[in-house]
Amino acid sequence: MVSQESRQAYPDTEALARAAAYELLRRAQQSVDARGVFTLALAGGSTPRKLYSLLAADPAFRDFPWSKTQLFFGDERHVPPDHADSNYLMVKTTLLESGLVPEANVHRVRAELPDASAAAAQYCDEMHRVFTEAMRSGGFPRFDAILLGMGPDGHTASLFPGSKGLQEQERWVIANWVEKFKSTRITFTFPVLNAAEAVLLLVVGADKTDMLQEVLVTKRTIYPVMQVQPIHGVKVWMLDHAAASRLTPVD
Ligand code: 6PG
Repeated sequence: MVSQESRQAYPDTEALARAAAYELLRRAQQSVDARGVFTLALAGGSTPRKLYSLLAADPAFRDFPWSKTQLFFGDERHVPPDHADSNYLMVKTTLLESGLVPEANVHRVRAELPDASAAAAQYCDEMHRVFTEAMRSGGFPRFDAILLGMGPDGHTASLFPGSKGLQEQERWVIANWVEKFKSTRITFTFPVLNAAEAVLLLVVGADKTDMLQEVLVTKRTIYPVMQVQPIHGVKVWMLDHAAASRLTPVD
């Protein structure tokens, strides 16, 4: 089944964050009404900070069903949870310190473990415990929503161009060596991303403009973010005008 792909541009990051927050609220309420749970994987980096802060503090989102939400991380750097580079630390300071999300619902990657592969395997076990058979699609966890970002090099999660993780088709979570950073990241694999009901790609800033033109219009090269193709779900690009400023169809 061909996935559905849509694109929406917003005047600025505030408007994009608010739209994404409403989209998550809608999906969360729908999933909880239907199945009593909402499974959500968060993106790291800097783009989603405003979104997470809105969800934590804006009264418009006070009805978010956090008690029924299982919160995961789509990727994590191989650092302790108090390290400046930790995606968990970013989510903790923007969202979790609000106390809205029950601790038992927050599934943190144990990225402090010296062996990144062990951290990935441990995370995979935790996901297997939460995602029962009825919550899987094709043998992979079917997230109700996965948030992703995109780097100027076309990576998403921690699936970077040229990295071995791009080829992974069996495991749910892997330790992926990233040459450009000379470091290992723990990341969801494409089968997990592509089993999701919805993937929301939040992309902002002028430094993403050229890559967006590549991945959405010219498509001369296959970049990792293009391999996100939800089999039964939807792929929603949420862009700010700066990132979308040069999106022009090729002649
Ligand atoms: C990470 C993210 C990564 C991020 C992109 C965009 O761990 O850094 O998962 O995939 O989404 O690099 O990052 P910015 O939002 O900072 O531009």
